[in-house]
Amino acid sequence: MIVNDVDLRGYIGVFDSGVGGISVLGALVRELPNEDFVYFGDSANAPYGEKTTDEVRALSSRIVDGLVERGCKAIVIACNTATSAAAEVLRNRYSTIPIVGVEPALKPAVLARRHGRVLVMATPMTVRLEKFQQLLGEWGGEAEVDSVPCAGLAARIEQGNLDAPDLADQLQKLVGPYANRVDAVVLGCTHYPFIRRQIKNVVGDVPFFDGAEGTARQLHRRLEEEGLLKEGMSPGNVRFISSKDDPEELKLYRSFFKRA
Ligand code: DGL
Repeated sequence: MIVNDVDLRGYIGVFDSGVGGISVLGALVRELPNEDFVYFGDSANAPYGEKTTDEVRALSSRIVDGLVERGCKAIVIACNTATSAAAEVLRNRYSTIPIVGVEPALKPAVLARRHGRVLVMATPMTVRLEKFQQLLGEWGGEAEVDSVPCAGLAARIEQGNLDAPDLADQLQKLVGPYANRVDAVVLGCTHYPFIRRQIKNVVGDVPFFDGAEGTARQLHRRLEEEGLLKEGMSPGNVRFISSKDDPEELKLYRSFFKRA
């Protein structure tokens, strides 16, 4: 899966099913500008959100095995779906390596809009699994929360061309019924921040929340705790790898990174 000869010693490995986790990568680089990051997009197997939990666990384990074997010092699961399905399994497997995940930013949204109506958009798997259900149990009482499983949306974002009318139609079908009826939106899939503007066009100009900044701060804390922060002030490297064997894919990743 990862080309054999890459040396990733000292790098932080970041992965997602495809382009989505690049929205998290942007926040990671802003938080830790002199660290070296390698981003692995599993575009050959995207989307994860409509697979079985076991499939996502197996895919995530294979990716993390590859990153750790090549020397990564920490892992960021830049995917809500893979975090829900596999974070625990991965942490048990690699107990000495910091593994940081991302979860829907329900808590900050609810605290900002107490007693309001909060719309959560996420993949079908994220909405279904226990991790989100627990989050809902903890914070759902403070606001009226509507969770919308957005089947097909991450797969569509993978194709790029984000201003095309078919994407606007897809959003209309998924969240059109919430137009001007919600006080906040939680983007519970790391692909969705790339279409924040398009979602606002449908639901209205309310505050949006995602897990990227919280994940970046958590990674910073974990590296500090473990004494793993890179020394020196020079800007770090950012490299991209894709499971899709197509140079166009890496161009797409770089174009998303410019917008992250
Ligand atoms: N970006 C991912 C997430 O945060 C996965 C989307 C998908 O592959 O279905 O959930």
